[in-house]
Order: sequence, then structure tokens, then C-alpha cells
Amino acid sequence: MMKNIPPFTDGIDRVDGRMKVTGAAKYAAEYELPGMTYAVFATSNITKGTIKTIDTKAAERAPGVLKVVTYLNAPKIPGYQTGKDPSKPATGGTPLRLFTDNTVKFNGQPIALVIADTFERATYAASLINAQYNAEAFQTDLEKNAGKANTPKGPRFADYKRGDPEAWQTAPVKLDVEYIIPINVHNPMELHAITAHWEGADKVKVYDKTQGVKSTQNSIAQAFKLPVDNVQVVAPFVGGAFGAALRTWPHEIAAVMAAQLVNKPVKLMLTREQMFNSVGYRPYTSQKISLGAAADGKLTSIIHQANGQTSSFEEFTEGTVNMTRFMYACPNLGTQYKITPTDVNTPTWMRGPGEATGAFALESAMDELADKLDIDPIEVRLRNYAETDPETGKPWSTKYLKEAYEMGADKIGWKNRKNKPRSVQEDGWLIGYGIGSGVFGAGRGRATVEAVYQADGTLHIKTSVTDIGVGTGTALAQVAADVFQIPAQNIKIELGDSSLPPSPTQGGSMITSTVGSAVHEACLSLKEKFQKLMGNGGSDKPDYTKVLADNKLQQLDTVVTSQGSPDMRNYAMYAFSVHFVQVKVHPATGVVRVNQVVSVADAGHIVSPKTARSQIIGGAIGGIGMALMEEGVVDHRFGRYVNNNFADYHVPVSADIPQVEALFVNKPDYKVNPIGAKGMGEIALIGMSAAVANAVFNATGKRIRELPITPDKLI
Ligand code: MOS
Repeated sequence: MMKNIPPFTDGIDRVDGRMKVTGAAKYAAEYELPGMTYAVFATSNITKGTIKTIDTKAAERAPGVLKVVTYLNAPKIPGYQTGKDPSKPATGGTPLRLFTDNTVKFNGQPIALVIADTFERATYAASLINAQYNAEAFQTDLEKNAGKANTPKGPRFADYKRGDPEAWQTAPVKLDVEYIIPINVHNPMELHAITAHWEGADKVKVYDKTQGVKSTQNSIAQAFKLPVDNVQVVAPFVGGAFGAALRTWPHEIAAVMAAQLVNKPVKLMLTREQMFNSVGYRPYTSQKISLGAAADGKLTSIIHQANGQTSSFEEFTEGTVNMTRFMYACPNLGTQYKITPTDVNTPTWMRGPGEATGAFALESAMDELADKLDIDPIEVRLRNYAETDPETGKPWSTKYLKEAYEMGADKIGWKNRKNKPRSVQEDGWLIGYGIGSGVFGAGRGRATVEAVYQADGTLHIKTSVTDIGVGTGTALAQVAADVFQIPAQNIKIELGDSSLPPSPTQGGSMITSTVGSAVHEACLSLKEKFQKLMGNGGSDKPDYTKVLADNKLQQLDTVVTSQGSPDMRNYAMYAFSVHFVQVKVHPATGVVRVNQVVSVADAGHIVSPKTARSQIIGGAIGGIGMALMEEGVVDHRFGRYVNNNFADYHVPVSADIPQVEALFVNKPDYKVNPIGAKGMGEIALIGMSAAVANAVFNATGKRIRELPITPDKLI
């Protein structure tokens, strides 16, 4: 049933595609060094308490074992002693510092590290470690700990109020409901791994899975009190991350410590099971939305309250309620955001952090409002369309959400949708349509890029940014090709190494804007150098190789640092999306099948069409998983995950995913940056889960406010 397959002919091919499919691309655990050793964690099987005794004798005697590290014998990591945190938590608290004391803060916390000559021997020896504990009472359930909910410090998380938020109570049409999302885990295909190698007494090189080689370099330098330049972090390829590799985690520090201790290279790769509680997750969050509207659909007030899970030792925060303040024109509005400590590892940002959670609630609530009013869900949104930012009063840099609604409605055949739920059946299945909007800040940071044109006709672009699979390298090549008007295969992109000119961590949908603009400016600067060499006789599209030869030069290069302009402060800058979904639901079994998806992005100028389309498709699939399948299940009696593997933690597979069409408004936003790109990594997913839930409601008349929408909730 493949229909309307969009042409994949526009834009350049993925520059690293061939390397990835042939296995030539190397990931953090694939580097082989002479004398390599392997480190494996033994983990706690209690949730909270202290280690009473830990017996490592059998492990130490096991074949091939070089060292067993516990809190009793671990070398002091100098940066751990000073109070300066090598890996910064999101807001406050103290990061987990492995092997510094005998406390256990969550189930599965590493209690020992075994280093052996093979991975298998290290794994076996780790299984021989036997700990006795003084177990303490714990709580992993946010709902049971809600009494400990608190408002995090900082202006971003303070209670927000404009007008009279309680106005909804006397509105002609009102809604007062609660939405819940469970734990979602990132679990990219590539497991988190690090290969650490001390090249000298005060010099270490690591091949690491990280979204930011510069931030990892800083973390390691701080922890081991090394000059920053004595730490090299290499990550030319990253097999997905979704936010899980945005910060430096304890296993990275542990591997560097282990390599120093045994004076050999150490490779440490987390197991899939360990991935669930070692590298963050999207926190369980409950949200309450109260809203009221006049009979014509105009909102009178909205109150949005959220309570998200964090750990007992760190405050993880995200902007869950923030989009509600500006998404729709509404004079009276209040938001509250709280976090609740529980005995789990710390959550972290996950694709669309904050907004993906918030949009499920807000965009479901808008659909509930449309249903109560018997008005089309797009029409309700248009009646509350914010022409300027209602939170700050600033003009949008650009906003083409109206165009996006039109494009998507047209493509999916929205006119076939009936406003009355449960009114369409085909072949025994209930059919429904839904939409959900997404929004995410469009920013621009600071980046340095070196551009070198060589006599052999190749243009080299060098910067430290990583490409976590999103197509950054391809987008940067496209930007350079656009300036120089040369074929993309003549452009060599060098990235993912801390020794290259500094770029920010890949995240927050900022990289094409930030680094793409820096590449753009570096190429313009280099082109200017060529123009100077040519003098007045220069053409606009010169033969660069000939210019170099005429001037007896092997190469011409430039280094440019670029960042956003102060004028950006005068605008509200956001990328927007709207997802259209058609589902069918089997009335007897409650099975939901997604028939069709059309995602429309107002992401500014689309720099690299092929990889942009892949981003949108990937985000839509993530959103379908969030809506229908994904749930990290903790048995709160034991504080343990019961589905920490890919058999039991369900994600969509090919058979679950229909044709996903990605449409782009493709209008540049030159307020954000000179290439006009607003970013799209986050908006690809934000709003998708609500679109699915709204389509399920339209099909069945059942409103599911707790994700995932599994069959048991529908029958
Ligand atoms: Mo992301 S959550 O910006 O990797």
C-alpha cells in the first residue's frame, strides 16, 4: 500500500552514508588499541541503602582479571574531591560519584568495576562479586512521593501568571483534566561506550559516545585536574543519542580512572540493561490542564501544572509548561512546574525535552476543547492563533503555522474527517484523524570553523561538532557547496574531535543554525580571500585551483568564529510543526494502527532536504512510539525496572510505521541567522503523541490521557 512516495532527489546525499552502511564508520567501542583491556560494572540489586560488606576475592582470582575497583580501594579522582562538579547537573544537586562511598542511591547503581583482558572474562568476574547491604526504605513512585514536590530555583521555573488564570472556572465551556506520561528511555541503537587511553602521565585520549566532544573534554579535564588540551575526545560517528549523551556520565569518568589505574587502554560499554538507568530518560510526569473558552472557541484562560520525576541527588528540570505561555493567544494564564525526588537515577533531556511532554497535554486539551465546542480542531487553533508572542509581546522572527496547517490538511485529506467521533468505519476498523502542534526555540550559539581550500580542489571544513546521526555533516557540506558553487564530493567535512575548532554540543535543534552559519561565514570569508588574490579581474565563480596555482599556493585557509546578533533579543524565535495522523482502531481488540502521517515543519530554510526529511520521519516514529508503546515500567515494590530490554520495552518497528510524509514550509528566517534555518530535530517529535491520541479519540470516542495508548486502555 505504498502511495505518494516523495522523491528523494533533492539535496545532496548523506556524506557519510557509504561509510556507515559499509562499516567503515567507527564508533566508540570499535577502536582497537595495543594492550586493550575491558571494564565491566557489577551493580547494586537494592534500591537504597549502604554496602555492608563487598566480597571481591573470587572476582580478583578469576582468569584474566587485572583489577577490581570498589569504594574501598578506588583511587581518588581529584576533581571529585574539590566540590567542583565534573559533570554538571541540569539545575542543582551533586552528580553521582562512583566508588567514593558505600551508599546506594538507586537500583542498578554500579558498586564495582572489573578490568580484565577480555570482555567475557570481565563480565564473568563481575558476576562473582557479592555484596551485603543495609537496605533502607525507598520510593520510586512519583505519585507516592508527591508530597516532596518542589519548585526548582531559577526564573525559568518560577510560577507564571498573567491576567486572571482562574477565569476558566466561569467560562461557558471548560475542561479540567490530568495527563500522564510514563518514563521513556532514549536507548539509541549504539550502546554508550568509551575507550580511554592515557598517552602519558598527564595526557589522555578517549573515543567516546558523546554529543559534545568539547564538554566531555572539559568534564574529564576537571575531574582529573588536567590542562584541557591534554584531554582529547574523539567521536566522529555517534549511533544515535536523542539527548542521552548530552552530559558526562559517571561511567565515562570511571573508564578514564580505570585506564590510569591499570596503565593500559580500557574499553567500557554499557549493557542494554544498564542503558535504562545509567544515561537518563524522559521523566514520568503528571500534568493538570484547566482551561475555559467562550462559545466561539476563544480561550478565556489556561492553567497548566506539571510535576516531573527527578532523582534524590540531582534536580533535573525541563520546560514542560513553558510552551503553554505563548502557543495560543490567551489573556489569562498560569503555569506551575514542580519536580519530585525519587530513588532513581537522574533523568535527562530527551528529544523535545519539556515540550514533548507539555505538548501531549496542551495539544490533547485543545482537541478536547474542540470536541466540546463541536468545532474543527484546526479551526479552534486558528481562532486562538497568536499573531505575536503573548508571553513577551515581541514579534515572531517568523511563524508560518497557518501555512503548515493548510499544507498538512490538504495532503492528508482532512476534509474527510468527521467532527463527531466514532463515526467512520472501514472493513470493521474505526477510522480517525488527529493533529498536534509542536514548537521549540530557534536559537543560535557560537562556533568556530576552519575552511581550507587545497590545491587538489578539495574544500576542507573543520569544526569539533558531533553528528549524532541527524545529518550535520551533510548539512554543513551543503552550506559550503552553496557558497562555493562546487560539487559536494569536493568538500571534506572533519568533525567530532575536540582538537578541531570549537563548536557547541549537538543538541537543542541549534546545530544547523549555529555551525551551519559559521560554515557559511567561513566560506564567505575564504571566498573573499580568493577575490583579493584575483584583484579586479576576478569572476564570481572562479577556478579556485587555478587561482591557487597562479599564486603558487598549496592552500588558502581561514578561521572564523561566529555567533548570533544582539538583535535576536527583539524577536520571539521558534520553529513550529504540525503533525497530521490517520489511525484505524479495531473495536474488539483495541489495536491501533497508524495508517498515515503527514508532518509539516516551519523550520525556516531547509538547508539539506534529504537529511531534513529523515529527521522529520525519525521524529514522527519516535512520537508514535511515545504515543502507543514506550513505557519504562518500574516495579515500585522493588524499585527495579521489569522491562529493561528491547523485547519488553516496545518501540515501533517497520511494520508499525506507515508512509510518513515530511512537508516543509521552507521559508527562510534571516532574523535567526544568515542561512535562514530554524532547526527541526525537536519539532519533529513534539506534538506527535497528541496527534495520535487525538486521532484515536476521533476514531473511538475514547480519550486516553495516560500514555502509552495500549489496547487494554481502549477496550
Ligand atoms: Mo537533544 S534532547 O537536544 O539531544
